[in-house]
Amino acid sequence: MGKYHGTSSTVLRPRTTKEVSEIVKYCNEKRIGIVPQGGNTGLVGGSVPTGRGELVVSLGSMNKVRHFDPVSGMCTLVADAGCVLQSLTDYLAPHNHIMPVEFGAKGSCMIGGNCATNAGGVRLLRYGSLHGTVLGLEVVLPDGTILDQLTTLRKDNTGYDLKQLFIGSEGTLGIITGVSILTPPAPQASSNALLALPSFDSVLPLFKRAKRELSEILSAFEFIDRGAYDLSVRHGQGRGMSPEEAGGAECFVLIETSGGRREHDEEKLSDLLEHLLSEDKPLINTGVLSQDATQFSNIWSLREGITEAVSKEGKAYKYDISIPLSAFKEVVDATKDRLREKGLLGPHAVKEVVGYGHIGDGNLHLNVVAAAYTSEIEAALEPFVYELVGKYKGSISAEHGLGVMKAHALHYSKNGISIEWMRRIKDLFDPNGIMNPGKVLPPASGASHEP
Ligand code: FAD
Ligand code: MLT
Ligand code: ZN
Repeated sequence: MGKYHGTSSTVLRPRTTKEVSEIVKYCNEKRIGIVPQGGNTGLVGGSVPTGRGELVVSLGSMNKVRHFDPVSGMCTLVADAGCVLQSLTDYLAPHNHIMPVEFGAKGSCMIGGNCATNAGGVRLLRYGSLHGTVLGLEVVLPDGTILDQLTTLRKDNTGYDLKQLFIGSEGTLGIITGVSILTPPAPQASSNALLALPSFDSVLPLFKRAKRELSEILSAFEFIDRGAYDLSVRHGQGRGMSPEEAGGAECFVLIETSGGRREHDEEKLSDLLEHLLSEDKPLINTGVLSQDATQFSNIWSLREGITEAVSKEGKAYKYDISIPLSAFKEVVDATKDRLREKGLLGPHAVKEVVGYGHIGDGNLHLNVVAAAYTSEIEAALEPFVYELVGKYKGSISAEHGLGVMKAHALHYSKNGISIEWMRRIKDLFDPNGIMNPGKVLPPASGASHEP
């Protein structure tokens, strides 16, 4: 993104959990801040040092699969935290299993970083969040102790589930060194379709129809507004439909099905398309059904490539919010109006305001693409966007986390008591404040959290 910058005199690349433990123990004794780093693909600046003299602990050299049992039926993978997500997907492919999490950064992000951010992505609709699919974690705590909870048990109700605290803690409570995760069987067949919609008003009824008609085989339902679609096409991210087909569409939806029998699943998806097109007031203008593996991945690239297209176009202010589905368009429009009022819409300042995201999860990615990062644009957007989210009782971070970008804005989504208990948990685990200082929690008045 080119938005977050930091310096560090030292980057350590441990190869074992024991080495991580020794590093952390030393840093704790000397009160040296640590920034854990995985693939460095995070979008909120969590993996970037903040100038407090932190050192970086990069997990990339811990990249071995520890265990996978393809025969017992439990389908659990145990891997080092530094394994790249795509490499785990590749490892599982010959065993006919998949990772329960998937998204555009899969070629660089690491499973430890995925757990640390509780990454969502395009499979959450089908397989749920990492809070459900991660069975166990190995974590080096801020005093160097190794917390071994690398269980592969599906059921374990023996008191507090400590691992959940580390999922989504963005490196502020400890360093994740190992992950045990459920790996679903690979679907026998997957198809997708890109649908062009005349107006945003069709999205919600279409989602309801897709859920009803495709039921158990619906595996993704992704939203792309016109601006995001055009950006992705302009920057060569995959292929969807011809310009004529895309024609007057106000927005697009990507539907994916995954199931057990190809003919059955494809028939269901094409039946849905046929029904939609033959109605008096069709919810869609047109739809393209992928015919082969290349077309399937081209359609996905169009959606997953939006992040890269946005970065190629300019500097992105990225807001990753949970709000009611019905408000998606309103929020994009309100943000455009706000920037217009401030005289900031135009090639010299804000070039585009686009929306896309995981409709099935109520998660909108509102991206403001500017010619440059400026304090004027930021002041127009913040707290404006956070207040808008607050109005809908939404979340200011649906899946990317808080990092350094949104720590100060936590109160828009969490009340004072919740923040106070988050702070107590942080103090309990990390009394010297060495783990990823300046991230997630807002600075406390009179805080002693600086390492
Ligand atoms: P990093 O960026 O290195 O770190 C992220 C945070 O986790 C930092 O706070 C860091 O300190 C901490 N951390 C990293 N590793 C560890 C560890 N082992 N132990 C403790 N803390 C650690 N996110 C989504 O949720 N859904 C998406 O669909 C999605 N799509 C993306 C698409 C693109 C193209 C890009 C660039 C990013 C996307 N992201 C998405 C954001 C990002 O990829 C995820 O947050 C990802 O999980 C981060 O993993 P990472 O290994 O790169 O972590
Ligand atoms: C996505 O869904 O594409 C990711 O969360 C990344 C982004 O928001 O750009
Ligand atoms: Zn996303």
